[in-house]
Amino acid sequence: MRKQQLIWQAEHETATAIPSLAEQEPSSAVVYFADFLKRQKITSGKIIDIGCGKGRNSIYMAKQGFEVYGLDYIHSAISACKKLAEQQRVSPRVRFETGQIDDDWKFADNFFDIAVDCFSSIDIETKSGREKYRNEMLRTLKPNGYAFVAVVSAEDEFEKRYIKSNPGAEKNSVVWPQNGKFQKDYDEAELRAFYSDFEIVKLEKVTKPAVKCGEKIMATNYLAILKNSKKVEI
Ligand SMILES: C[S@@+](CC[C@H](N)C(=O)[O-])C[C@H]1O[C@@H](n2cnc3c(N)ncnc32)[C@H](O)[C@@H]1O
Repeated sequence: MRKQQLIWQAEHETATAIPSLAEQEPSSAVVYFADFLKRQKITSGKIIDIGCGKGRNSIYMAKQGFEVYGLDYIHSAISACKKLAEQQRVSPRVRFETGQIDDDWKFADNFFDIAVDCFSSIDIETKSGREKYRNEMLRTLKPNGYAFVAVVSAEDEFEKRYIKSNPGAEKNSVVWPQNGKFQKDYDEAELRAFYSDFEIVKLEKVTKPAVKCGEKIMATNYLAILKNSKKVEI
């Protein structure tokens, strides 16, 4: 198992670094995106929840009427997703699977109406791995389908400190001293460049209180709503 995966396995068991992961309530970022979809009158279709964790967002989107496919490389997290889906009575509308988000996805081209990456791809340790995830997201998303990407800003109070003292190999990346977790953070220009094959419909920088590694901080994140505007080849 890769080092980052072992770190996530431990984190899913203990929720010491990111307590919000153990919550059953959806991320406020995903609620924001769901509200956007409602305003577009999009209330059904297939969604991929990329790095679904314990399923808080998948379950929420299933309750909104979507058919959700959740993918995560931590087996215990996938088991927790299935249990939560049963408890919340949405099992018929969700499918959870253990798998890597930075490898080939088994889904056909143009399979999904919507994609959600809620703070997951920032945990892929290599640029080539993140490019793979992004390209698979684009390949499997239908033309005009929306993708939602939440990432942490390089200006985030917690990250800013470690970008200086504990940088990873890439620009704006960190290795958390608390548990060795790699994270890729973004400035706006990097984010726009990385997702330039998509149309950027909305990009917001949001600051809110959060707890990371036992510290109360003001978290600063980017929430991006993207659209697959690629032309369909005839
Ligand atoms: C910060 S958590 C977010 C979880 C979920 N999206 C949420 O908002 O509750 C990141 C998730 O991505 C998963 N993950 C990270 N890298 C992955 C990879 N390469 N393949 C599959 N899952 C991955 C982790 O196991 C973890 O569940």
